[in-house]
Amino acid sequence: MATTCKHTLLLSLLFSLFLVNSAASEAEILLQFKNSIEDSMNTLSGWSNATAIHHCNWTGVSCTNPAPFFVSSLNLQSLNLSGEISASICKLANLAHLNLADNLFNQPIPLHLSECGSLVTLNLSNNLIWGTIPEQISQFKPLQVLDFSRNHVEGKIPESIGSLRQLRVLNLGSNLLSGGVPVVFGNFTELVVLDLSHNPFLVSELPADIVELGKLEQLLLQSSGFYGEIPADFFKGLNSLTILDLSQNNLTGNLPKIEFLPNLVSFDVSLNKLSGSFPNGVCEANGLVSLSLHTNFFNGSIPNDLINECTNLERFEVQNNGLSGNFPSWLWSLPKIKLIRAENNRFTGEIPDSISEAAQLEHVQIDNNSFTSTFPLGIGKVRSLYRFSASLNGLYGELPPNFCDSPVMSIINLSHNFLSGSIPEVKRCKKLVSLSLADNSFAGEIPESLADLPVLTYLDLSKNNLTGSIPQELERLKLALFNVSFNKLSGRVPASLISGLPASFLQGNPGLCGPGLPNSCLDDKSISTPSGFTKLTCALVFTALAFALLVFAFAFYLIRSHKQKSQLGSWRSVFFYPLRVTEHDLIMAMDEKSARGDGANFGRVYVVNLPSGELVVVKKILNFSSQSSKALKNEVKTLAKIRHKNIVKILGFCHSDDSILLIYEYLPNGSLGDLISKPDFNLQWSMRLKIAIGIAQGLAYLHKDYLPHLLHRNLKSNNVLLDADFQPKLTDFALDRIIGENTFQSVIASESASSCYLAPECGHTKKATEQNDTYSFGVVLLELLTGRQAEKKESEEASIDVVKWVRRKINITNGALKVLDPKISSSFQQQMLEALEIGLHCTSVIPEKRPSMCEVVKVLQSLETSLQDFEFSASVDSSVPL
Ligand SMILES: *[C@@H]1O[C@H](CO)[C@@H](O)[C@H](O)[C@H]1NC(C)=O
Ligand SMILES: *[C@@H]1O[C@H](CO)[C@@H](O)[C@H](O)[C@H]1NC(C)=O
Ligand SMILES: *[C@@H]1O[C@H](CO)[C@@H](O)[C@H](O)[C@H]1NC(C)=O
Ligand SMILES: *[C@@H]1O[C@H](CO)[C@@H](O)[C@H](O)[C@H]1NC(C)=O
Ligand SMILES: *[C@@H]1O[C@H](CO)[C@@H](O)[C@H](O)[C@H]1NC(C)=O
Ligand SMILES: *[C@@H]1O[C@H](CO)[C@@H](O)[C@H](O)[C@H]1NC(C)=O
Ligand SMILES: *[C@@H]1O[C@H](CO)[C@@H](O)[C@H](O)[C@H]1NC(C)=O
Ligand SMILES: *[C@@H]1O[C@H](CO)[C@@H](O)[C@H](O)[C@H]1NC(C)=O
Ligand SMILES: *[C@@H]1O[C@H](CO)[C@@H](O)[C@H](O)[C@H]1NC(C)=O
Ligand SMILES: *[C@@H]1O[C@H](CO)[C@@H](O)[C@H](O)[C@H]1NC(C)=O
Repeated sequence: MATTCKHTLLLSLLFSLFLVNSAASEAEILLQFKNSIEDSMNTLSGWSNATAIHHCNWTGVSCTNPAPFFVSSLNLQSLNLSGEISASICKLANLAHLNLADNLFNQPIPLHLSECGSLVTLNLSNNLIWGTIPEQISQFKPLQVLDFSRNHVEGKIPESIGSLRQLRVLNLGSNLLSGGVPVVFGNFTELVVLDLSHNPFLVSELPADIVELGKLEQLLLQSSGFYGEIPADFFKGLNSLTILDLSQNNLTGNLPKIEFLPNLVSFDVSLNKLSGSFPNGVCEANGLVSLSLHTNFFNGSIPNDLINECTNLERFEVQNNGLSGNFPSWLWSLPKIKLIRAENNRFTGEIPDSISEAAQLEHVQIDNNSFTSTFPLGIGKVRSLYRFSASLNGLYGELPPNFCDSPVMSIINLSHNFLSGSIPEVKRCKKLVSLSLADNSFAGEIPESLADLPVLTYLDLSKNNLTGSIPQELERLKLALFNVSFNKLSGRVPASLISGLPASFLQGNPGLCGPGLPNSCLDDKSISTPSGFTKLTCALVFTALAFALLVFAFAFYLIRSHKQKSQLGSWRSVFFYPLRVTEHDLIMAMDEKSARGDGANFGRVYVVNLPSGELVVVKKILNFSSQSSKALKNEVKTLAKIRHKNIVKILGFCHSDDSILLIYEYLPNGSLGDLISKPDFNLQWSMRLKIAIGIAQGLAYLHKDYLPHLLHRNLKSNNVLLDADFQPKLTDFALDRIIGENTFQSVIASESASSCYLAPECGHTKKATEQNDTYSFGVVLLELLTGRQAEKKESEEASIDVVKWVRRKINITNGALKVLDPKISSSFQQQMLEALEIGLHCTSVIPEKRPSMCEVVKVLQSLETSLQDFEFSASVDSSVPL
């Protein structure tokens, strides 16, 4: 007994000695590996023999567990690593998984890693790996997961890859592979995922031996160069297939018969040149979620007897084919269906009222078919529908009053049908952007309620039988297209709908009158002076306003005097910059003399001369949510840590219980807004472009590079300050984090209810997004391009903001040229037009269509580069003596 005990003790002692040893050496191996890596973000700083942390607990390292602890997995994904992947790592005898995906390794395929005898997973996805796949790839024998996707790997796939018989995942997608695909796939009997997608230089028939892969679940060959027919027995052995994507290749011939694929979830053969009839068998798989056959030459009809199948279908895309026959009615009421696209076919049939059962339906496009149907009440009951497009069909009858009841409805196109009756009032669909009812038989008046749709931008009511006058209220909208031609409208056209819109959009209505139209209105005088009634209303409104102002001013006075008493109360300050000033000095210096502006924009601004002679800007914020002083400090610190050449520095802050003083650096040149509003604003194009790029860079930095990611939320040309070199700097950013979301929202709402810098969706969506900032940027860019202030009060015309103004002008032939600031030489026209395009994208009413600020920076910078080339060549030209 005693000896056994001793033995065990000795053994375990030995064992732990061995352990300590191996631990030390494994840590050293890791450090050696790290040595050859460039770690620009220092994320591996914890990898150090100086710390007490066991190497199994270092970033990305996992060990076998329980003891003995050997490194089994290294996951260094997304750490911005570069340098060299050293073979030294293979000294870790138990290393099974190596994931270096999403880094910046710039080298050929690291063949030496085949020395790692236990390696099962190698993931080098999304690096800068280049060169060919060498024959010696076969040395990675035990490998089960090989992911080289999203690199620059080129050349042919070598036949020797067929020796990797253990492979479960082979991903070579998004590379530059070329040539044919070798017939070795039959060897991969364990293969579950095969991805050769997005290799545009591959030219190959489909590897026929794929059919033998009974375990294959995902076959992803889209957007490569596969051509020829799909072999007749292609789907025969693929019993485990869940995802098939052969889209965007050059496949021809008939789609072969689909044997029963019980697990099929997604089937995509779109954008090829396939013909034949609708593949019957796919719906036998009850789990099918997505079926896409679009843009081929399929013909014949879709069987109507699949009603109990495809119950999980969410996406159905058969557009751009030659399909005909009755559109299957079962499709319209599938419980999970989200997307139906069948445009450009020859389908007939009705849209059944049971479409209301399709409670998830979001998007229907059946334009250019032969549906003969009424617009059923059921459509209005689908709350998720955001696009319904059925132009060029035989729809008839009246539109039901609920036709636009879906709260997310954004696009309706019912043009070129036989709809009649009057256009119902629309109230619920506040997100409607585009409504086209052209070329129908609608009669009656244009509903005034259209003017209550805040983002309505395209309105086409042409070629109907509409009567009455054009509602004055429509002036409120930012309409880019307003076409009412060929109706029976009459009366005065609202002034702002004439200015800027092509006359052709009003033609064919003999009764319409107004300046610039064939008929000027007879009663011009009597209408242009307000009637007694409106005079009275004006007076009443004015009195009410004045009273409100008085009350407000009084309240403000009370608050202010209260504040002043507590002004020298307990102040706490944090400086991020050596400011030699006391809170007391600061507050004493903030008087009427040093105040700037009117206190709008979240608080009054003062320019304070510090005892050191330095000037700083102090912004005094009164209303803020009662965060704890610690939380507040953290928020301000977050903002103050930002260091970017296009963002104004926060030097520090002081706060008491009821106010915050934010101290910013002082810039002597004022704001871009001041500059543009000057009557003699005349900045050359290169300067304007430079300013635009700087603003975009500042925003991109806030959105993407700075942690935490921030939103500006209050961008306008008045919040873009300029330094001595006209380098722009953003100020007043991310104040929501300091004053709290609720206060922020209410200030924004009260100060700028109709600010044209705010994206249209700001009114009805609560959540702030990057796209809101992009919109505001777009407005500033349009200001730079047109030389017009964003909100210009014009004496005669109703005030019209720059977005509306530009949108309208560009609808006219050569209109785009007319919006550009005439003070800039026409030699920059091409450049400015390209910038205008960006401005229009940024101010798209549909938030998803706006580019990210990073994209904007890229495009603007490319303009700047070509500008420099241009100026260089111009200067060379002008230096040539005549
Ligand atoms: C850490 O490792 C380096 C080289 O591997 C060695 O020079 C150094 O002495 C080690 N430090 C400690 C504290 O072990
Ligand atoms: C890693 O850290 C955890 C928790 O901090 C600890 O329980 C564990 O023992 C450490 N592992 C090793 C091998 O030191
Ligand atoms: C990643 O590394 C590249 C080059 O090493 C560098 O330019 C870039 O700024 C780094 N990104 C981050 C987020 O650190
Ligand atoms: C490789 O890493 C990327 C990036 O995280 C990941 O998306 C991919 O799924 C991984 N590949 C495999 C085969 O797991
Ligand atoms: C397929 O596997 C067999 C058996 O391991 C092997 O002999 C053959 O060379 C492999 N095919 C290719 C193309 O590597
Ligand atoms: C399809 O083939 C045509 C020529 O036959 C070629 O021009 C085209 O690039 C190919 N498309 C794809 C996606 O490979
Ligand atoms: C489908 O097209 C083929 C020729 O591409 C034609 O022979 C066949 O009759 C068509 N089928 C139907 C139902 O139109
Ligand atoms: C309508 O679809 C047919 C094919 O069915 C196509 O040839 C035609 O160009 C389409 N018309 C329009 C206006 O898109
Ligand atoms: C509506 O459909 C017609 C015909 O398909 C098309 O020409 C028009 O561009 C569509 N209008 C909108 C705004 O999408
Ligand atoms: C417009 O109405 C008139 C009668 O009021 C009718 O004759 C004509 O066909 C209608 N036009 C259209 C396009 O519906």
